[in-house]
Amino acid sequence: MASGKFITFEGGEGSGKSTQARLLAERLQAGGIDALLTREPGGSPFAERVRVLLLDPATPSHAALSEALLFYAARADHLDKTIRPALAAGRWVICDRFSDSTRVYQGAAGGLRAEALDALERLVVCETRPHLTFILDLAPAEGLARARARGGVEGTVSAATDPFERRDPSFHARLRAGYAEVAKAEPRRCALIDAARGRDAVAAEIWAVVEQRLLPGAS
Ligand code: TYD
Repeated sequence: MASGKFITFEGGEGSGKSTQARLLAERLQAGGIDALLTREPGGSPFAERVRVLLLDPATPSHAALSEALLFYAARADHLDKTIRPALAAGRWVICDRFSDSTRVYQGAAGGLRAEALDALERLVVCETRPHLTFILDLAPAEGLARARARGGVEGTVSAATDPFERRDPSFHARLRAGYAEVAKAEPRRCALIDAARGRDAVAAEIWAVVEQRLLPGAS
């Protein structure tokens, strides 16, 4: 039986979710909670190899079904090798993207049927569902501008050059709508966060939700 808490971060490009996932992990650690920060695609040696394949700009266009199968192949290994052992040891797991990303990128925006995604989720995720999911909501134009600026600053492989970030504007609008639907369908698990504000304001709201939902009696 898992005893740690499982928290996932979701959102479109440039929404700041990776930063917020890191800030939350650091804050938990500072408060004495053993928190593991991980990410998808990736988070285990095999899944990191699949990540390279999926995000390679040299093979930019795949069918949504082959993408979903690869994301789920990586996820199955990530769950077995990293997430479940950590939760079983009582650690908290903070994951930058998880199955809602497949639901939204390959499903709502990519056109893959919900039943196919439900079947994969049942098969692979089983009972290891997140206790809490933060969905960082941001207008696509602003998110893409942030992602581009980030790539320019880093000057290496631009954050805006992975195949998913180069899709057309309607794809990004479908992503946003897809995430809003996930939040609406599962309000007990999900918290929709306005990511247009500054980093610290967003982090403060996220911490308030964690305290309220997962740390009763702590505040
Ligand atoms: P990454 O560089 O981690 O981007 P981000 O900072 O936006 O998380 O690349 C992950 C990309 O893979 C991102 O564009 C979203 C996409 N993705 C899917 O399409 N389906 C999935 O199931 C997952 C986990 C990610």
